Amino acid sequence: MTICDPPVIPDVHPALVGRFSPVGFDPTIEVSDGQIDSLLDAARHAPSAGNSQPWQFIVGRRGGDAHRRIVRHLARSSSQWAPSASVLFVNLAHTTVEGTDDWEYSEFARYDLGQAVAHMTIQGLHLGLDAHQFRAFDRSGITGEFSVPAHWEVTSMTAFGVSTHSAGEIRSAGTSRERASRADITWARG
Ligand SMILES: Cc1cc2nc3c(=O)[nH]c(=O)nc-3n(C[C@H](O)[C@H](O)[C@H](O)COP(=O)(O)O)c2cc1C
Repeated sequence: MTICDPPVIPDVHPALVGRFSPVGFDPTIEVSDGQIDSLLDAARHAPSAGNSQPWQFIVGRRGGDAHRRIVRHLARSSSQWAPSASVLFVNLAHTTVEGTDDWEYSEFARYDLGQAVAHMTIQGLHLGLDAHQFRAFDRSGITGEFSVPAHWEVTSMTAFGVSTHSAGEIRSAGTSRERASRADITWARG
């Protein structure tokens, strides 16, 4: 048996290094039900505080009714590129207990939703789908459109599809690909 030494400087997984948020999606690419199921399953397998699983998703495949209803509420910026993505996910967080005004369902609801979405985006790369998470849409419009009750929050969206460009090739207003350094993000290390 050969025991491999771990690399001195650990490699970051290529999916994480190569991931980027496209602002152009190929409008001819369609996703299958099976691909959508595997994105949802990636979210299902994410960890959450107390296994609370405080997430749900509205799934709009391009050409479908839910997609038409989602697209109406995009902001001017996201309407330039999100409609041509193969599928749009609206990401919902379970924030309060049903029937109460402000009893928190989980103090980690949005944290857990974000992690579930992160897992979905990596699953997307495994399926050959790029992802762009975004906030540029009318949250209250989506809330009304899909009758989302008060104990759930419409938090963000994710567009999945095949990018028409490479990372950094097209600059989009208000976004940047620059990163803080490793030292900048390390509060303490010892
Ligand atoms: C919660 C969240 C909200 C975002 N909102 C927007 C948005 O409204 N419009 C946009 O173009 N990108 C949005 N982004 C994408 C970021 O701008 C992008 O991830 C960041 O600039 C880093 O670029 P990269 O993903 O290509 O590495 C959002 C990302 C996250 C996680």
